[in-house]
Amino acid sequence: MESRNYIPFDEGKVGKRLSISGEHSVYKYGENQVIKFPVGPIYYADPEEAYQKVSNEARLAESYLRDFIVPFEVLTYIKKGKKKYCIIQKYIEGRPLTIKDMRDPNLRAELKRLTDANNIMYNSSGFTVEFFGIKRLVWHAFSPKMENVLLMPNGKLKIIDFGMISDTMMVSSSQSVRFVIQWAVKRQRKLLNLYLSKG
Ligand SMILES: Nc1ncnc2c1ncn2[C@@H]1O[C@H](COP(=O)(O)OP(=O)(O)O)[C@@H](O)[C@H]1O
Ligand SMILES: [Mg+2]
Repeated sequence: MESRNYIPFDEGKVGKRLSISGEHSVYKYGENQVIKFPVGPIYYADPEEAYQKVSNEARLAESYLRDFIVPFEVLTYIKKGKKKYCIIQKYIEGRPLTIKDMRDPNLRAELKRLTDANNIMYNSSGFTVEFFGIKRLVWHAFSPKMENVLLMPNGKLKIIDFGMISDTMMVSSSQSVRFVIQWAVKRQRKLLNLYLSKG
């Protein structure tokens, strides 16, 4: 990774904030893109490691989930002596997929296509897409939708957050982190089955 001593994006193009709830602050970037800055615990993550993580996930997504990913690039830079990274991605006109959408057989079929592709990726790599985001996994009953899967007006699904998790790979040395991930993968599987069984 090459870290440059200047801001590699146009600060003038950073527009309206779209989200700050999760691991990134997301802003509109120019007309057709978004820009994501890490916040919370991953803000402190080593950008080199974060870059490696994002690159690995991107490689998996490109191999297995080609139809569902959104073009993006990861930029690394140095600001006030600190290493940083941000992600620039195409803006997706869409809204989170909800359980009510599953009444539409076309959308159920589209989600099945995505989960089938994800299962193939999981079986061969151990990694799965995070469909819901951790908060939504816990609070799904109050807000039954997928934070990381957007439904576009043309009925296609896009994964806007390619952060992946694994309950089989040694992704963290912390036992409690691994426990939460194992719970999350199980809970996600249950909810996906619920979505696919609607109709
Ligand atoms: N490419 C995009 N197009 C439109 N909205 C987006 C895009 N990427 C993110 N968002 C909005 O920002 C929110 C958080 O983005 P995400 O990449 O999931 O960040 P986090 O790491 O915080 O979960 C999404 O739920 C969505 O509302
Ligand atoms: Mg997310």
